[in-house]
Amino acid sequence: AIERTFSIIKPNAVAKNVIGSIFKIIEESGLKIVATKKIQMTKAQAEGFYAVHSERPFFGTLCDFMCSGPCVVSVLEGENAIAKYREIMGATNPADAAEGTIRKLYADDIEANAVHGSDAPETAAVEISYFFNALELVG
Ligand code: CMP
Repeated sequence: AIERTFSIIKPNAVAKNVIGSIFKIIEESGLKIVATKKIQMTKAQAEGFYAVHSERPFFGTLCDFMCSGPCVVSVLEGENAIAKYREIMGATNPADAAEGTIRKLYADDIEANAVHGSDAPETAAVEISYFFNALELVG
C-alpha cells in the first residue's frame, strides 16, 4: 500500500552538510519527499516528540542532542514507505547497520544516529501531525 512516513535528519547529520546526500538515498529508493523543512527544536518540542521514551535512561541526553542544532523534518511517501525507510536508514545502532545504509554512512553513535523514521502507521500519523499541518502536505 502507498504509505506516508515521517523522517528527521538529526543535528549531527545536518552539521555534516549531508542533507542532499540523504535526500538522494531517499529518492533513489523510490520514496517521494512530499513535505520538508529545516527547523530548530526547543527542548520542550523534543521532549514532546520523544515522550514515549521519557522513562528511558537516554531520554535527557537524546532531547538535549535533538535541540543542539537544526534538524530537517520531512514526510516521505511511497509503496511500504515505513518499512522501506527503516531499511535504508539501517539499524538504530550504527555498529549494527548494514553497508550503504544512511546510519552506516552518517551516524556517529547510537544517539547521534543521523536519522529518525516512524516505526508504524499510527506513530507516522502522530509524528507527521506534530510538525506539519495538512496544507503543507502537497503530495
Ligand atoms: P530514533 O529512531 O530517533 O528513536 C529514539 C532515539 O533514541 C534513537 O533513534 C536514538 O537516537 C536514541 N537511542 C535509542 N537507544 C539509545 C541508547 N541505548 N542510548 C542512547 N540513545 C538511544
